[in-house]
Amino acid sequence: MKSIKNICCIGAGYVGGPTMAIIAKKNPHIKVTIVDINAERIAAWNDKDLSKLPIYEPGLAEIVSEIRDKNLFFSTDINKAISESEMIFISVNTPTKTYGKGKGMAADLKYIELCARNIAEVAKSNKIVVEKSTLPVRTAEAIKSILHNTGNGVQFDILSNPEFLAEGTAIEDLLNPDRVLIGGESEDAIACLANIYGSWVSQDRILRTNLWSSELSKLTANAFLAQRISSINAISELCEHTGANVKEVSKAIGFDSRIGSKFLNASVGFGGSCFQKDILNLVYIARSYNLHQVADYWEQVIIMNDHQKRRFSDRLIKTLYNTVSGKKIAFLGWAFKKDTNDTRESAAIYVADHLLSEQAYISVYDPKVSDVKIQSDLNYLNTRSEAENLEYVNPVTSPYEALKEAHAVTIMTEWDEFKTYNWEEIYANMKKPAFIFDGRNILDKSEMEKIGFEYYAIGQ
Ligand code: NAD
Ligand code: UGA
Repeated sequence: MKSIKNICCIGAGYVGGPTMAIIAKKNPHIKVTIVDINAERIAAWNDKDLSKLPIYEPGLAEIVSEIRDKNLFFSTDINKAISESEMIFISVNTPTKTYGKGKGMAADLKYIELCARNIAEVAKSNKIVVEKSTLPVRTAEAIKSILHNTGNGVQFDILSNPEFLAEGTAIEDLLNPDRVLIGGESEDAIACLANIYGSWVSQDRILRTNLWSSELSKLTANAFLAQRISSINAISELCEHTGANVKEVSKAIGFDSRIGSKFLNASVGFGGSCFQKDILNLVYIARSYNLHQVADYWEQVIIMNDHQKRRFSDRLIKTLYNTVSGKKIAFLGWAFKKDTNDTRESAAIYVADHLLSEQAYISVYDPKVSDVKIQSDLNYLNTRSEAENLEYVNPVTSPYEALKEAHAVTIMTEWDEFKTYNWEEIYANMKKPAFIFDGRNILDKSEMEKIGFEYYAIGQ
């Protein structure tokens, strides 16, 4: 088995950053270099001020400060890092295509292909190339073809090693993974990677499969996880019509060990950069094999999620006497979940967009999301002009300022601090009747009603 002394990771994002930080921490004898074409992002990773790191993730800054410039490096010199390394991880983004064939469904693999071509061009010695990004099943075939046809006659072994971490708990997930999955054709290459994880993960948790099972398992895992949320969200609507309480239903079904209690929190809808993208990709792949029933089955998870976001804002408008025009609506939370600064596909963006189309004024407070990000998330939708978004949306740095004189407050992210606010004071400063729309079911209904609020939660 080849001994690995230098690792390069292309893509310094939410996966590349934390994953490589843990690999480097647990393998002090290996030099790990994370490279990116985004110079601003690399500069932020190298910033002395740890609050400037591009990604907020509990525990990450401490690890970066411990090993940065020892055996963990961040650089824009991609070619140098590729040529120095025996193992190269590809951890670039694979968003849904926004153009051409497969627009709105298929994964855009242009960044993956660029990486493969870059490696092929630069490599002068044998390399193990590891797919860390989430990819459609059979992508390794395309990567192999690029590497073998444009390379310099060196040997490439391709591995699929999908990442299962969730944002907000990335460090914990990486340190104690349920499993590590490695798919490949070369036993030796698989052993090299298993050996690196073996520094802290027991070998019986390191699963070895063929390339295609590994690639497909990642899409399948995300589809199953998202399906649980859409399933419980579907039941939440039925609860609202029948007097059942979705929290009680979740608990009751979760006690069945075959169902399990995790991932059954009804919400305003799942967000994040991967669930929607990966299910759309799965649907697209199924359709490309003419498996229309399979495609329709999984597409319903997305349809349910869109419905959940829409019915949240519809319910708010209906409750506020069928109009929010000119009314101030406060948003607590903008990130797609707590403990992250990531806002990709956050339900908050879509709920805000709908309310803005009804001429509401929106004030937003999120502990980790900047005002610039909030505006750019809305501008990206292109529903109205940037000037209008600036006029109607007001991101603020204090929750009490966001809530002052508001007609209603919506809880969009389950940040722990929201539960500790002085809700009596908030009530006193809001317009009456004061409404709460709790998109995360984090507040206590009876306590809020005792204060005087009209409280609406999901599935209650
Ligand atoms: P990200 O957008 O945060 O980071 C990707 C980085 O790759 C960006 O900084 C970008 O500049 C860089 N990049 C793109 N093309 C490049 C190139 N040719 N050369 C060098 N750098 C390049 O994305 P992410 O959230 O880290 O996701 C990466 C992959 O991991 C995706 O396929 C995603 O589906 C998968 N994934 C993400 C998560 C998650 O929680 N975010 C979890 C598991 C898997
Ligand atoms: C998810 C998976 O959990 C990871 O295993 C996977 O690696 C990752 O996608 C990926 O491939 O990117 P992530 O999107 O970071 O991780 O976060 P989750 O904890 O899965 O939450 C996703 C969304 O579902 C959030 O908006 C969250 O609030 C929502 N959610 C989650 C619910 O509404 N209810 C729940 O019970 C759980």
